[in-house]
Amino acid sequence: MKYDFDTPVNRFGTYSAKWDGSAARYKPGFIPLFVADMDLKCAPQIIKALHRTADHEIFGYTMPPQEYFDAVIRWFDTHYGWKIEKDWILPSAGTCSGINKVIEAFSNIGDGVIITRPVYGHFTGMIEGDTHRKAVDCHLHLDENNVWRMDFDEIEKACSDSHNRIFLLCSPHNPVGRVWEPWELQKIVEITKRHNVLLIVDEIHCDLIRKGGKFTSIGTMTDDYSNIVVAGGLGKTFNIAGLACSNLIIPNKFLRERYRQAGGGGGMTPFGVSAVISAYTECDDWVEELNEYLDGNVELAMNFFAEKMPWVKISYPQGTYCLWIDFSASGLDGDEIHRRIYDEANVILQDGKVHDPVYGACCQRMCVPCARSVLKEALERIAAQFTDIK
Ligand SMILES: Cc1ncc(COP(=O)(O)O)c(C=O)c1O
Repeated sequence: MKYDFDTPVNRFGTYSAKWDGSAARYKPGFIPLFVADMDLKCAPQIIKALHRTADHEIFGYTMPPQEYFDAVIRWFDTHYGWKIEKDWILPSAGTCSGINKVIEAFSNIGDGVIITRPVYGHFTGMIEGDTHRKAVDCHLHLDENNVWRMDFDEIEKACSDSHNRIFLLCSPHNPVGRVWEPWELQKIVEITKRHNVLLIVDEIHCDLIRKGGKFTSIGTMTDDYSNIVVAGGLGKTFNIAGLACSNLIIPNKFLRERYRQAGGGGGMTPFGVSAVISAYTECDDWVEELNEYLDGNVELAMNFFAEKMPWVKISYPQGTYCLWIDFSASGLDGDEIHRRIYDEANVILQDGKVHDPVYGACCQRMCVPCARSVLKEALERIAAQFTDIK
């Protein structure tokens, strides 16, 4: 491999929320696999671009240049086959803060926002905490082939309720790792359009596709964008979440203007801008190798569980680097599962109830983008706590 993903990196003392932020809470030697934030070094091309920006020595208010928009347009075209236009691109310091502004712009306090749990836990925080709307869950279900599916009847019913103004879809889906197929996305486009529901699609994990899979952007499913907003952050793909650079793609002029009037967009830093330009113009091969490495980690974890803890239920993620692990066959309750993993194994995952407050108590989300040796140790430590379960 041209890039080194395999050497563990010490992230202590780097203002890392995942490492430094956990040090006060957990015993020394903890392995944190809870945040969707990679312990893999950023592309050297991006590091160079950031050095160039630092060398300017002045870091004033920032405006993304034409080069920035060209880079975003190129990436969307070459990677997803979606030809977007400059005006559609609304740079935003964060994906979640951008989505919050969309929610505020297109619904009122108390209105329903439809989500499909188990789903990225912060969606609930954004809907109920940040914007004071109501999270309406159309729960995913596992089909007979162990594939997570949306319940289109439930979604149709929820969309037909006029209190529910927005459907917030995670695509690819964190934490279950589904990469939605075109027919599934098509159905969502049709249902939301039929009921005049705004469709926000969070595509932040779109470049993290497991071997053999293909991501379809919602933008390629229709050319009627009258109810569609796409959130496309770079934080996950390039491990630059701390640089606060994201883009909302809003092709419809009316939607765009309303979003802007609600105060959406902006807040970019010169570092974020230079990182985006570099990421989207010179890092294609890095992303390819990253995905290869992540494939290896996912495979390692899946094989490990199949062999050492065959009673846990996981479906193979088609995208993202998250595993949604169901420990309920252990017969233990959520607190005991948590105790064994966090307190005894000293591995920090994310409790399932964060992503699914109703059914998630015995589940855990594990993010595997770290050096393989670290992942292996974490898996072994977890398995050692469950040897009594057959
Ligand atoms: C689906 C999803 N959306 C958004 C975010 C966060 O994006 P940002 O840091 O750009 O707000 C995450 C982070 O894990 C995520 O998984």
